[in-house]
Amino acid sequence: MTQTPQETLANLLSEERTFPPSPEFSSSANVTETAYEEASADRLAFWDTQARRLDWTKDWDQVLDWSNPPFAKWFTGGELNVAVNCLDRHVEAGLGDRVAIHFEGEPGDSRAITYAEMLDEVKRAANALTDLGVEAGDRIVIYMPMIPEAAVAMLACARIGAPHSVVFGGFSVDALSSRIDDVGAKLIITADGGYRKGKASALKATVDEAADRCPAVEQVLVVRRTGQDIEWHERDLWWHEVVAKASNEHTARSFDAEHPLFVLYTSGTTGRPKGILHTTGGYLTQTSYTHQAVFDLKPETDVYWCTADIGWITGHSYIVYGPMANGATQVMYEGTPDTPHKGRLWELVQKYGVTILYTAPTAIRTFMKWGEDLPARYDLSSLRVLGSVGEPINPEAWMWYREHIGGDRCPVVDTWWQTETGAIMVSPLPGVTATKPGSAQRALPGITVDVVDDDAASVPNGGGGFLTIRDPWPSMLRTVWGDDERFLETYWSQYKGMYFAGDGAKRDDDGDIWLLGRVDDVMLVSGHNISTTEVESALVSHDTIAEAAVVGATDPLTGQGIVAFVILRGASESSPEHLAELRSHVAKTLGPIAKPRQVMVVSELPKTRSGKIMRRLLRDIAEDRKLGDVTTLQDSSVMVRIKEGLQSGSGD
Ligand code: WT7
Repeated sequence: MTQTPQETLANLLSEERTFPPSPEFSSSANVTETAYEEASADRLAFWDTQARRLDWTKDWDQVLDWSNPPFAKWFTGGELNVAVNCLDRHVEAGLGDRVAIHFEGEPGDSRAITYAEMLDEVKRAANALTDLGVEAGDRIVIYMPMIPEAAVAMLACARIGAPHSVVFGGFSVDALSSRIDDVGAKLIITADGGYRKGKASALKATVDEAADRCPAVEQVLVVRRTGQDIEWHERDLWWHEVVAKASNEHTARSFDAEHPLFVLYTSGTTGRPKGILHTTGGYLTQTSYTHQAVFDLKPETDVYWCTADIGWITGHSYIVYGPMANGATQVMYEGTPDTPHKGRLWELVQKYGVTILYTAPTAIRTFMKWGEDLPARYDLSSLRVLGSVGEPINPEAWMWYREHIGGDRCPVVDTWWQTETGAIMVSPLPGVTATKPGSAQRALPGITVDVVDDDAASVPNGGGGFLTIRDPWPSMLRTVWGDDERFLETYWSQYKGMYFAGDGAKRDDDGDIWLLGRVDDVMLVSGHNISTTEVESALVSHDTIAEAAVVGATDPLTGQGIVAFVILRGASESSPEHLAELRSHVAKTLGPIAKPRQVMVVSELPKTRSGKIMRRLLRDIAEDRKLGDVTTLQDSSVMVRIKEGLQSGSGD
């Protein structure tokens, strides 16, 4: 459980740069300033209007039932089918020939799949699942590479009302089997393998072992992607046989607005994973609305690309449900950004004429490290909006993204949200907001966030504290699967009547919101709470640093001392003088209280599979302790390499 620090966060970093949208962009933007006014005049009427973006077969009685908080019901009595909203209605509107997915496999194979083709495949898959005995309410686990069949599988589940639980294809047998067990799935959809880093990597073998451990699993449906050798069990079925045999005629029934759509497990950096439950009407309303508002999607002309994996919430909300509800054309890429070469992403932007790109700070900092000459080799002039999600984006990484990817002309939208929130909550609007590097800025229309102190009072401009959400929102989690107690305890027990997000935040002098990292990562130095994010951003603002991770290590003098791990940019080398300079650079930027006790140069940082830095493990190194649990690390040997290669400078 989170420890609430004694003092609210110090507000150290100040940022003067701001980038208003161009008049051309603003004048054709999907959403204007009036959206904020409409929503604040009548929040529920605003969401009522947004829900009409979708096709409902039965209208709702009430926009929000909040009679039993925090268990919300949105659009009560309303009925709809998610897959119909994502596919059928576009085809019926004559858009069947529009490309839904430009798929690019890592080895270079590609296919374009139209909305009509997607619909055909989803109908067959829905029939196939029904033929296999799947009924509405049954849970299905999906463990797939980034191939179009993953989206087809999710939409087929949605079509028949069988909640899916997608497990990221990089997770181990343990992680997979515990999720299968917790959600109680009888059927798993997987693939023989997928292409990653130039190789066919196996998925089916992990499913075999996990299914052996979970006696409830009766059937495993296997997509053939790589053609690699796999073991075959009695419970296994080939997707291409079962789905091809099934009829492509399928009349979808509607489901209640609160019918469960999916359960997605959040690993977090500690603790037992929680199955976050999302439902139907509110979720699709907010993902669809935010996708067109935040990215300014023009479905007729835009080519959208979100580089997330389908195994994370970003893949659910901003690859499958939001974009497809909006009839978007998008790129889906199977592999890693460095295969077969480090310019792969930019090559694909050029090839498909991508106009909207949505990626993560961890990727952007990696591209910075690789150097700006790589993107400079490609024509990126099609781009018009850039998005960021997953972690606070350091101002320098934001600037790099804007300049070297966005050619100084594209608005950058830093989008704050969580698996739990289901959709974007805090973000600039690209046609409205004058953006600031590193700030997520403002709650979207219809969303009420606050930054509060220990006593739940809003902090004034210039103050720091904890991010909370004051009013229920349509795509909010409904509970933790099978564990209402944990839902109450984790999110609703810190502050009465408010959702506790677990993130530190500050409000600048204009009232704009800056995210400061997870509350668990906040450092307490000589009685001051200092955010790891701010110290990291100060380090990254030094032109020799590509990436930094900062932790508070126990210190006899100050309570905690700041220890920084840095990755150098390009080929630059470090020296004791350089390390001393980095320490003073931080002191100059943020004030002497934030001066690191020690700076260590490393060649890589420990990250979770979704790219978040695992500061807990760095704390173990900084305090010279035995390493804690490394099972959620993307690469478990990284810690050994970090320890061996340490080069460190500390001082006064
Ligand atoms: C946590 C949620 C949201 C989809 C991907 C991550 C951090 C996310 C931002 C941002 C600062 C961010 C927060 C949040 N986070 N986006 N734009 N600025 N921090 O989903 O795995 O559920 O993680 O990611 O700490 O609480 P998730």
